[in-house]
Parts: sequence; C-alpha cells; structure tokens
Amino acid sequence: MSSTMTLTINRLDEVSSTQESAKQLAEAGAVEGTVVVARTQERGRGRLGRRWLSPPGGLWFSIVLRPTCPPARVAGLTLLAAVSVANAVRSVTKIEAGIKWPNDILIGGRKVGGILTEMTAEMNVVKYVVLGVGLNVNIDTSGFPHDLLMPATSLKEEAGRQVDLEKLLKTCLKNLTADYKKLGDGFVEILERWKALSVVIGKKVKVSQPGTAIEGKAVAVHADGALEVVDGEGSSHIVHAGDLSILR
Ligand code: BTN
Repeated sequence: MSSTMTLTINRLDEVSSTQESAKQLAEAGAVEGTVVVARTQERGRGRLGRRWLSPPGGLWFSIVLRPTCPPARVAGLTLLAAVSVANAVRSVTKIEAGIKWPNDILIGGRKVGGILTEMTAEMNVVKYVVLGVGLNVNIDTSGFPHDLLMPATSLKEEAGRQVDLEKLLKTCLKNLTADYKKLGDGFVEILERWKALSVVIGKKVKVSQPGTAIEGKAVAVHADGALEVVDGEGSSHIVHAGDLSILR
C-alpha cells in the first residue's frame, strides 16, 4: 500500500458501470486513488454479476487501488471498505448502519448499500483493484422489484430527509483513504472494527453456495475475508463466498 494517496475524482453523468469506467482508466495507467463517480449507471452490477439498480439520487462510485499484497488478501479490502462506508453513513446521517458479511451495508435488516471488489492480477501479482461502492441515498426504493435478494431501503427513507450526497462521497473517500493507509500496520484493527459493526457474528446463519448450504453460528471473520461458521456438530467451516441469511 502506498503511504499517501492523492484522490482524483472523475465526475460523469450516465455510465454503463463506474466499475468499467474505472477499469479503463486503470488499464490506461491511472494511479491509485483515481475515482469515478456517476449520477446514474445503466448497467450497475453487484456481486456475482447481479444487476445493481442505480437511478439518480444514489451514490455510485469506484476507486482504483494498486495494493502490493498478494491476490489472496484482496478480499480483505471488501471488509475494509464496508467498515469505511458504514462509518461514513453513521457520521453523516447519525443512523446506525451495520455490515452483513461479506459486503452488505444494512439498516434495520434492509440493504442500503454494497461493496464490489474486482481485481486484475497476473502471475500472482495484483495489477490493480477496482473497488465499487453503491449507496441508495436519495432514492425511493418502493419501486424496486420484489425479486431482490434482500429488502432494500435508502438513506432518505431511513432519515426522513434528503442526505447531502457530496458530503457522503467526501466522508466515504476520507474514511477509505485513512483505513487503507492503516493496512500497512496489519489487518487486526480493521477486523475488530468490522466485528463491532457486524450484524452477523454470534448469529445463527445459513450461507448458500451453488449446490450446497452451510448452517451454523457465525463465530469469526478472518483477515482474508472468510467467515467462520460452526455447525450443530461443532465442526468449523471457513466460507469464502456465498449468500448469507441470518436465521435468528
Ligand atoms: C453488491 O452488494 O452486490 C455490491 C454492489 C456494488 C454496486 C456499486 S455501484 C458503483 C459500482 N459500479 C457498479 O457497477 N457496481 C458498484
């Protein structure tokens, strides 16, 4: 990680996906800290290639990172970003946003945002990471389709007022920059802060993966982003990916 990161913010109106725009810039040599923020995305995407509805009024941005860590550690950046973004939501809106593993920002059991970490690596060396953040800010989610995996909400709906998009962007970027800088000192502090914001640790959960599902108690999150789940027989499962639902 570089010890300082200068932010360059590219503001666009309508894009396909800020992930794609940021990737193009990264491929052309854009430095760490290059940000693309758009008013709306036509093909916003979420984890596992899912669609991400991105109407005007939301905060949709991606940042280029060039971490010097091995590719296996990049998943940890999702946890870091979730901490930075949940804290930005908390400080700007005073609403107690939480984190659901691996990448959901929640308010009262509803999804208000998510993080998407995409990496390009060659021969076990990270070329660049594009970290995307989506937050439903001044959006009416009542028109969102009902087939979404989780019920959605927006900051406007939760706060009962419009939220300053620019202030939220600045606070997200300030937190991300500061937390990313601290990574050089190790991941322990981020994990502790992630746990403090987590709505998952200590709960009975079900993690669904294609063709299989694990049920048990979520006991820990590891530095590589994996979740540890202990099943009814006391066996520990280290889960790297999947869709998590909280059972109680
Ligand atoms: C998820 O919860 O599945 C992650 C959602 C990430 C959405 C953001 S919006 C900005 C950036 N551009 C995209 O196309 N996706 C991410």
